[in-house]
Amino acid sequence: MPKLQGFEFWSRTLGGARHVVAPMVDQSELAWRLLSRRHGAQLCYTPMLHAQVFVRDANYRKENLYCEVCPEDRPLIVQFCANDPEVFVQAALLAQDYCDAIDLNLGCPQMIAKRVLLAHEKLSVPVTCKIRVFPEIDKTVKYAQMLEKAGCQLLTVHGRTKEQKGPLSGTASWEHIKAVRKAVAIPVFANGNIQCLRDVERCIQDTGVQGVMSAEGNLHNPALFEGRSPAVWELAEEYLDIVRQHPCPLSYVRAHLFKLWHHTLQVHQELREELAKVKTLEGVTAVNQELKLRCQEDISRQKEGEKPSGGLPFFHWICQPYFRPGPREGSKENGGARSKRALEEEEGGTDVLSKNKQKKQLRNPHKTFDPSLKPKYAKCDQCGNPKVSMALLPRAEPSGGGRRAGRSPLPGQHPLPAEGRARGGWLPLTSGQPLIGRRQALRRGAALLFVASPALWGACSVGGGISHRLTSFPVSRVIGVCSTCAGAAARSELSERLP
Ligand SMILES: Cc1cc2nc3c(=O)[nH]c(=O)nc-3n(C[C@H](O)[C@H](O)[C@H](O)COP(=O)(O)O)c2cc1C
Repeated sequence: MPKLQGFEFWSRTLGGARHVVAPMVDQSELAWRLLSRRHGAQLCYTPMLHAQVFVRDANYRKENLYCEVCPEDRPLIVQFCANDPEVFVQAALLAQDYCDAIDLNLGCPQMIAKRVLLAHEKLSVPVTCKIRVFPEIDKTVKYAQMLEKAGCQLLTVHGRTKEQKGPLSGTASWEHIKAVRKAVAIPVFANGNIQCLRDVERCIQDTGVQGVMSAEGNLHNPALFEGRSPAVWELAEEYLDIVRQHPCPLSYVRAHLFKLWHHTLQVHQELREELAKVKTLEGVTAVNQELKLRCQEDISRQKEGEKPSGGLPFFHWICQPYFRPGPREGSKENGGARSKRALEEEEGGTDVLSKNKQKKQLRNPHKTFDPSLKPKYAKCDQCGNPKVSMALLPRAEPSGGGRRAGRSPLPGQHPLPAEGRARGGWLPLTSGQPLIGRRQALRRGAALLFVASPALWGACSVGGGISHRLTSFPVSRVIGVCSTCAGAAARSELSERLP
């Protein structure tokens, strides 16, 4: 059967979904999706998955998708970030049987049309995209039209520019979204400023979109799409029950509860520490019980006609939106001490050092705090983090100890490519795990981390006093990624190769 496209895909496969839970790293996990679906969400996205790691690492695939399969969790769109069109398609092919569409998070500017086009041609499920707007409406419209032409079957437009992040989030522009909606013939979801059901209706009316996506609003009130605002402990209890059936890392649970209980934790601050300290799901459940008791006491003490404090629309124990303070508003919640870094950045205020920095300077008078003098790191191609810890061992001088000691790469192995040879590189990995620490590698002249093709690996040992037998990868490729991404890639190669 040919795959459904555009509006047909939206109305038949996605059931005409209007209420959409956003992709959220570490937060739109299965348990949270199920909770949101029970309370009115009609479509959910997975957290953004790293296409390169998804292709290489079987465990990553299992943990983030294959073991999260659940019939109630449909329709589901799997989101990837990927720079390389081929890698994106490989990842999407591995994911397509577990979802209804594949979404590309268009954070990375490289080869956008090619990534969409190739995926559109090769996948059996539709490809969708999620974008931020440009400041200019016409530029945003052209971008959307380019994606539609490349084969995107549904577009989510987050009405904020890429600069509108953190305290600078501000309001999303529905004007931009409306212009895109008018200019394309595929369904459009609006994202941004959705905090309650009334916003959903207003947004659909104002922009003409097919559906709306919520992230922060959903985290603070997962019953937002039902138009209800339940007590915070109720939804916490329900979520914890789901987590018992569909476990996820405790860090996700904690992060969810910090958001859900946000306003209550301003009042009962000791519980914040309790939540931060607990190490088990039972511990978290106990904190929720305690929070419930305290809120019930607050309710019983409530006087007639009493209004919620702090300008909140509801009392602190009711799920409700959280409005992030703007860049110039001092946050009362933090005693007016907004993020020092944000303040410094905003006001260029580097002349006056913070207390911590003054203390550091006392300990180390030569330390400089001038950001312009800090080393600038290249960004990782995969995740955008700084590539700080690249390491390359100098070519191993085989010495005694290993079965293959004294030998060059195994017969049939390729010679090192010119680039690798020039740097003389081996990336030593062992079946046990790293024998040689990064520091040691650096001491031995390391400059860059190379990861080899799995086809080329062999065994040898590294000289200079290190007698362990090592499994080494002859260098075949430079990976322009940070140590985390490279490590994941290397581990996955090892786990696939080792008996
Ligand atoms: C905790 C969190 C994690 C997020 N992770 C992702 C992600 O994985 N992929 C993505 O495209 N956007 C991600 N976002 C952005 C949201 O999907 C959404 O575009 C943004 O928060 C604006 O929507 P809102 O105004 O409803 O919060 C994340 C947002 C939050 C709050």
